[in-house]
Amino acid sequence: MSRNVFDNPSFFSKYMELRKDYNHNDLLEHPEMEKLCPDVRGKRVLDLGCGYGSYARSFIERGASYYLGIDSSESMIRKANAENAGDNIEYKLMNLEDLDSFECRFDLAYSSLVFHYIDDFDKLLRAIHSILNNDGILLFSQMHPIISASNGYSGYFEGEYFAFSSYQEEGRREGHWFKQKVISYHRKMSTIMNALASNGFLIEKVLEPLPSLEAVRELPALEKDLVRPTFLIVRARRI
Ligand SMILES: C[S@@+](CC[C@H](N)C(=O)[O-])C[C@H]1O[C@@H](n2cnc3c(N)ncnc32)[C@H](O)[C@@H]1O
Repeated sequence: MSRNVFDNPSFFSKYMELRKDYNHNDLLEHPEMEKLCPDVRGKRVLDLGCGYGSYARSFIERGASYYLGIDSSESMIRKANAENAGDNIEYKLMNLEDLDSFECRFDLAYSSLVFHYIDDFDKLLRAIHSILNNDGILLFSQMHPIISASNGYSGYFEGEYFAFSSYQEEGRREGHWFKQKVISYHRKMSTIMNALASNGFLIEKVLEPLPSLEAVRELPALEKDLVRPTFLIVRARRI
């Protein structure tokens, strides 16, 4: 398994600081994910790239029968076990690229801001399709293609608008976040939608979140999202 940048101690602690303050996740991405989240009562939930398990308890509190979070970062899984453990909650150190070896079945595959780190999207979708029960839901957010397109951007939260470029050129991007090299993968909007359709998913809803004015007051950096989206959110059903 190649080393996960989230296991770099300085990167990890800066990321955790970011999650404590007003941030894009809490003010923009998560509320929109919540709007599309299905009723989880009695359902088995798989959180793909669960991080430190920030959403685990809320799934169980809302009636999910079981929550499994998988992530390839040892630091994340350690923190998840230490801070977000509970009945019917489990965590597993695992790379999403190995999901095709997984044998359990789930009703909801949930993934917040992880898919842009995955190279082979078709392989990932095939694996998700095979672990979802019939009619199961895939709900994910990822970096919006408008953001992931740019080659050689200076930083994710460093205060500047991203130069928009290279949209038609898909593939690997090397960026920097918290002074570390971060590898991500750009896919066009059409590639993402077509991959879902051709791997057995019915696209139910697509969101490009717009922040509320109250959220912009709390986190002025969100002003940029009044102009262009940072995130893409998709809810799809396994057919
Ligand atoms: C931006 S964080 C989001 C964490 C969590 N979903 C949340 O919203 O709190 C991205 C996560 O993706 C995980 N990740 C990145 N590439 C991965 C891979 N190939 N397999 C599993 N997890 C991965 C990282 O370790 C990190 O925890």
